[in-house]
Amino acid sequence: MSSIIDIHKATVYRGETCVFSDFSFALQEGEHAAILGPNGAGKSTLLKLLAGGVHPFPLDETRVRIFGEECSNVWEVRKRLGLVSHDLQRDYLICAEGLNVILSGFYASNDTYEYQEFSGAQVLRACEVMEDLGIESLAGRRFGHLSTGEQRRFLLGRALVHDPTLLVLDEPTSGLDLKACFQYLSLLRAQIRRGKTVLLVTHHLHEIPPEIERVVLLKEGQIVAEGSKANLFTDGNLSRLFDQPVTLVRANGWYQALPG
Ligand SMILES: Nc1ncnc2c1ncn2[C@@H]1O[C@H](COP(=O)(O)OP(=O)(O)OP(=O)(O)O)[C@@H](O)[C@H]1O
Ligand SMILES: [Mg+2]
Repeated sequence: MSSIIDIHKATVYRGETCVFSDFSFALQEGEHAAILGPNGAGKSTLLKLLAGGVHPFPLDETRVRIFGEECSNVWEVRKRLGLVSHDLQRDYLICAEGLNVILSGFYASNDTYEYQEFSGAQVLRACEVMEDLGIESLAGRRFGHLSTGEQRRFLLGRALVHDPTLLVLDEPTSGLDLKACFQYLSLLRAQIRRGKTVLLVTHHLHEIPPEIERVVLLKEGQIVAEGSKANLFTDGNLSRLFDQPVTLVRANGWYQALPG
């Protein structure tokens, strides 16, 4: 099986801050991973590195490959992955209409534009995705006039519409109420069952579905532990990761963190 993500010895700066130094991480096609870490650990920066939003410091030994290729054309890479993140939600154009938000997934753009063409099949697919997500009645509403959770659902639709092999999710359930959160998680599980590769970054344990077995604990830009949830999800490991006493609760393959 080939690596869908292959980061080798990357050093990444955001402004003056060195977020990653000599950082390596790989994910095989069909594998899923959740990267867990406290605020500022570098989770969103890692996703930006994959989507071409930030670049590694150019060193001879550094390699950042996605879908087996160097990330030379970010637009081509973005079209092949489905991304949901806070940054995208913040930067998405507020005047875009619901249906166009979904359609923009075909071009990885922040609205649709006149020069872009959409086939009848693509429009039908966008309608089908809206129905799956229960947002078809909001198809004519502007993005800026949707609630946070509705915006999230549209962005999820945008991420799924072109049927990408890789889904990259940054705290996908934040802002969703319980019903929307559970509906979203069941959709995500369906995507996993359909063979998508999922990379999830979060600091919320409850948004890691049972199907994601591999976890990576990230702190201050370093992988402090990597392995199965069964081995790594212990009160001690999580307490050390978050510098806070944590008690873990487990039910039906799901985890929740409580104050220790
Ligand atoms: N544009 C920027 N300029 C300078 N430093 C930045 C910039 N963006 C992020 N950083 C810094 O890079 C580090 C990693 O930030 P990042 O957003 O990747 O963290 P995170 O793990 O996603 O945190 P959170 O859980 O709060 O979303 C932090 O120390 C942050 O302050
Ligand atoms: Mg973040």
